Amino acid sequence: MQALEIRPTTAADLPSITGIYEHAVRYGTATFELIPPDVAEMTRRFGVLMDGGFPYFVAALEGRVVGYAYAGAYRPRPAYRFTVENSVYLEPAIHRRGIGLQLMQRLIAESKARGYRQMIAVIGDSANAGSIGVHTKCGFQMIGTHPNVGLKFGRWLDTVMMQLAIGEGGTTLPAG
Ligand SMILES: CC(C)(COP(=O)(O)OP(=O)(O)OC[C@H]1O[C@@H](n2cnc3c(N)ncnc32)[C@H](O)[C@@H]1OP(=O)(O)O)[C@@H](O)C(=O)NCCC(=O)NCCS
Repeated sequence: MQALEIRPTTAADLPSITGIYEHAVRYGTATFELIPPDVAEMTRRFGVLMDGGFPYFVAALEGRVVGYAYAGAYRPRPAYRFTVENSVYLEPAIHRRGIGLQLMQRLIAESKARGYRQMIAVIGDSANAGSIGVHTKCGFQMIGTHPNVGLKFGRWLDTVMMQLAIGEGGTTLPAG
């Protein structure tokens, strides 16, 4: 059994993260990006998330980064400030070993600690059983499907919207 660590992301992790995401962009339908961002662009995106106070974690197996998850702004308008959108990506070779679930559980706990109230997953491709499965296991509810909103690899793709209330969700108002 290899030692798995879930820990906050540092700038030194960004080349590994860029590689994991590059594979997802080139060969997968979970993301609707078509051209893989380079390390400089992933570093810029990391900076935006850190400046915004959002959580970002990596999963490391024996010290090697094999996956990551982060939460960012759902939409820029300020009334959305208690709602985050999450992303989670793993190296393909280590799917279905519970690592995505552990990353998501840490991300949800940290998002709750930071006072966010709702987490939204915008899942590329309604055939993405892995993503729908891990979000369901984390307690996300199915909101619905936007049919045929993406075009990648020469075919139309849906997005699947799922949502999790975090902490007190909408049952109380935040202080201040
Ligand atoms: C989605 C992803 C992060 C899931 O991570 P993972 O480590 O493979 O998933 P886990 O092993 O933690 O699975 C946890 C649970 O999710 C569900 N699940 C995971 N993969 C599944 C699949 N292919 N089919 C059905 N359910 C699945 C199961 O309930 C599973 O629990 P179980 O193995 O005890 O049955 C990973 O598959 C991935 O990186 N996919 C490509 C990128 C992607 O789609 N990212 C999401 C963008 S929104």
